[in-house]
Amino acid sequence: MSIAIQGTGPPSAPLRRIAVFGAGGFIGSHLVAHLLDTTDIEIEAIDLTFDKLDTRSERITRITGSVRDPTIIQGPVERCDAVLSLTALCNPSLYNTRPLEVIDASYTDLVPLTDLCATRHRWLLHFSTCEVYGRLPLDSDGKRLTAMAEDVTALFLGPVPRERWTYACAKQLLERRIWALGVHDDMPFTIIRPFNVIGPRMDFVPGIDGDGIPRVLACFMHALMAGHDLPLVDGGTRRRSFVAIDDFVAGIGDILKHPDACRGEIINLGNPGNDVSIAELAAMLARTYAARVPGSRVAVLRRVSAAEFYGDGYDDSIDRIPDITKAAHLLAWEPRIPLADILPEVVDDYVGRYGEALGAVAGQR
Ligand code: UGA
Repeated sequence: MSIAIQGTGPPSAPLRRIAVFGAGGFIGSHLVAHLLDTTDIEIEAIDLTFDKLDTRSERITRITGSVRDPTIIQGPVERCDAVLSLTALCNPSLYNTRPLEVIDASYTDLVPLTDLCATRHRWLLHFSTCEVYGRLPLDSDGKRLTAMAEDVTALFLGPVPRERWTYACAKQLLERRIWALGVHDDMPFTIIRPFNVIGPRMDFVPGIDGDGIPRVLACFMHALMAGHDLPLVDGGTRRRSFVAIDDFVAGIGDILKHPDACRGEIINLGNPGNDVSIAELAAMLARTYAARVPGSRVAVLRRVSAAEFYGDGYDDSIDRIPDITKAAHLLAWEPRIPLADILPEVVDDYVGRYGEALGAVAGQR
């Protein structure tokens, strides 16, 4: 199957080849596998490492290098019909501890890529973040909303000393740059805002294949496998809506099939049906873990303060429910997988990869 790109500017061309910057990461590796399964698109996969991605398909061209390197970005943008930009340091423990690297990875390093896409008139699909919405959903007059909608909800970040928001602010600025290139320089673009995508191969386990604090799923899985208490930051009252990676990459596949409809759009992809508090997530994951790893230590949930866990400058979103009306309307996309069905696969994946090193028993039910 080939997909037509239409719009103003250059003539329509079949979408035969795409560039995926960040193909070796959690989302990238699942997305490339999905596109290999469901399309005949050729993929230029660009990343620093490829441990999570099976690159044996002859439809994959593997390019090792950084999106910061002008000699790396030139070729894929020249050769490909669409450019997917997935690279980022999207881990909250870094936002207040390595803010300059976070700002550069989310904004500075990506400016040359966006400009090149504008010059070459390539369709840029940029992966932004739900975090641009900030602490909670408000309309432009400051009235509280239930869900976060792309073209309605204001972007409400905390004060500058709350360095948590360095990432969201840099991501927002890049969105505004892409929007300007689209409106004023006719660059075809789509901005995707993922809402807490989870699944196998997410993040890392500290001391085994990474250092520091990963996102909540890997933190809790690490604690369960190592027999530690599960840390609930400020009691785990904050809420998130978790979307299964399989639902998410299906949504991206749908966007690639609808270039006309998605051109110039910002699109939320998330699952409002999976809205839970972090304490509820911990309890669900602990129950799933106990069922799949018999004989494991009974999980203990422990309250920690944000300052103790992340250091000064941390702040948090209170809740984060996506409004997915636009994705449903443009793509007829809707997420299907409930949280309870995501967690068993996640537990099996982590136990399979790390269980032995941490003394957890793999594969038992
Ligand atoms: C992060 C990124 O900043 C977003 O850009 C990204 O969209 C999102 O992850 C994602 O996974 O899609 P956040 O949801 O705050 O945002 O990341 P987590 O580190 O997974 O934290 C979620 C919540 O769990 C926070 O309230 C955090 O304080 C809490 N948490 C985290 C714990 O209670 N215990 C832990 O061990 C770790």
